[in-house]
Amino acid sequence: MDFFVTTPIYYLNGAPHIGHAYTSIAADILARFYRADGLSVKFLTGTDEHGIKVARAADADGIEYIKFCDIACEKFCALGRVLCLTNDDFIRTTELRHEKSAQALWRRMEQDIYLGKYSGWYSSRDEEFVNTEDIVDGKSPTGSSVEWLEEECFYFKLSKFQEPLLEFYQNNPEFISPISKKNEIVSFVKSGLKDLSISRTRFNWGIPVPDRNDHVMYVWIDALANYITSLGFPDDTAAVSDGMNCCTHIVGKEILRFHAVYWPAMLMSAGLPLPKKIFAHGWWTNSGQKMSKSVGNVVDPFSLIDKYGLDAVRYFLIREVPFGEDGDFSEDGLRKRFTSDLANDYGNLIQRVFTIIERRGIFQASYDQCDALDNDMISSTNNLLSIVRQHFNELSLSRALDEIWSLIGLCNKYVEHSKPWVLAKTDISKLDVVLTILTEAIRVITYLLSPFIPITCKKVFDCLHVDGLLFSDLSTKLKIINVSKCDILFSKDILN
Ligand code: MSP
Repeated sequence: MDFFVTTPIYYLNGAPHIGHAYTSIAADILARFYRADGLSVKFLTGTDEHGIKVARAADADGIEYIKFCDIACEKFCALGRVLCLTNDDFIRTTELRHEKSAQALWRRMEQDIYLGKYSGWYSSRDEEFVNTEDIVDGKSPTGSSVEWLEEECFYFKLSKFQEPLLEFYQNNPEFISPISKKNEIVSFVKSGLKDLSISRTRFNWGIPVPDRNDHVMYVWIDALANYITSLGFPDDTAAVSDGMNCCTHIVGKEILRFHAVYWPAMLMSAGLPLPKKIFAHGWWTNSGQKMSKSVGNVVDPFSLIDKYGLDAVRYFLIREVPFGEDGDFSEDGLRKRFTSDLANDYGNLIQRVFTIIERRGIFQASYDQCDALDNDMISSTNNLLSIVRQHFNELSLSRALDEIWSLIGLCNKYVEHSKPWVLAKTDISKLDVVLTILTEAIRVITYLLSPFIPITCKKVFDCLHVDGLLFSDLSTKLKIINVSKCDILFSKDILN
């Protein structure tokens, strides 16, 4: 395996929303890109089904826990289908393979686990223990209500891993990004790590602690193990090493600490390899407000996609906000991007150029007597893959789109300047040069856009009579230009 990308596994207590869609789309874009770049890729997503939060949601509906999870999980699977996710595995933490894996992981950590007693605050909304000094007006720092807990529990000696973690961050500067988030994690660890309570006795909706059926594992210990379950832990440790060595976890910023502190410490304790990278993206607000069920301003991905189409939503979410920063969602912003970038810039380019080429008929690619402008177009086209690849390696997804859009902009200017509709009447050999250069540019643009807007690109590939699968195709220039006319890709009618 060359690239293993994961999303967080989603809690089942609420309906899927745009935040879940965002993480999944980003991971899907990475998976599609690296597959097309010839790498062997695994993409994992799934659902986090245990814990008090899910149990309470099931109780409120008066449904048996596992039945509740089956119904709620189906909604996340439906979101995956609507988003056209190309995940290779979907994990549910209630699966037997996962119970086996989480218990085996626990056993491998046993030398760092001891029995104690927890008395303190807990936020069930965040499934997180909260320090008394962090509570303000009876709420946790994330604004969640907290409840007092006193119970016997197992502890994980997290404190023991403070120095090893700091040393690991030092030796692996790329491990956590973006850099601002990394700095927060490093100062959190430097400020001192307390041992972590990792089992619960007050409810039983969880994975039983090995040999202690009266305890279930803390839901985060159970959840984090999903990444190695999918790799075949505990049966196939070679596959686990192979996968973790090239693993990128994509997570929202609010759960970075679990992934960048607890998870590596657990893996160190178990003697397993750590992931290669953890990337924390920002949060979407809705017209400036935090999205929440109680406020009723959660953006529903299904209805948005229904209205604007999948590609417009995928494109907007990734283009609008640099990956790693927070963003504010507005439908107006989406409509603007739809009109200017998708319909006017890319859609019109394809429309205009393909119509002219269709009229010209099939012809031999030609680079006869290129002038300076032609040569500029050729070199911008030739350079695009390596520039975009560099941005992908840094997970700068919106920058990758900026670069693709600069070439789209150049193409549009080139059409204006070279006026192929005039050349069609005056100079067929120059027309062929211009159309060859445009076809090549559009081919490269569309290959590189296909991880972002796969449905649209498939239509363009059909008109170009190419399969669009591997970027390596791009190193061989087309010999024959054979392009069919294309239907309107982004019709502005839907905006009315
Ligand atoms: N179950 C845990 C993750 C366990 S991973 C081992 C969890 N689940 S969650 O359902 O709350 O989903 C969290 C993820 O949804 C976040 O990490 C983030 O990726 C995404 N988002 C949820 N709301 C979001 C926004 N408003 N904006 C952007 N993404 C957010 O945490």
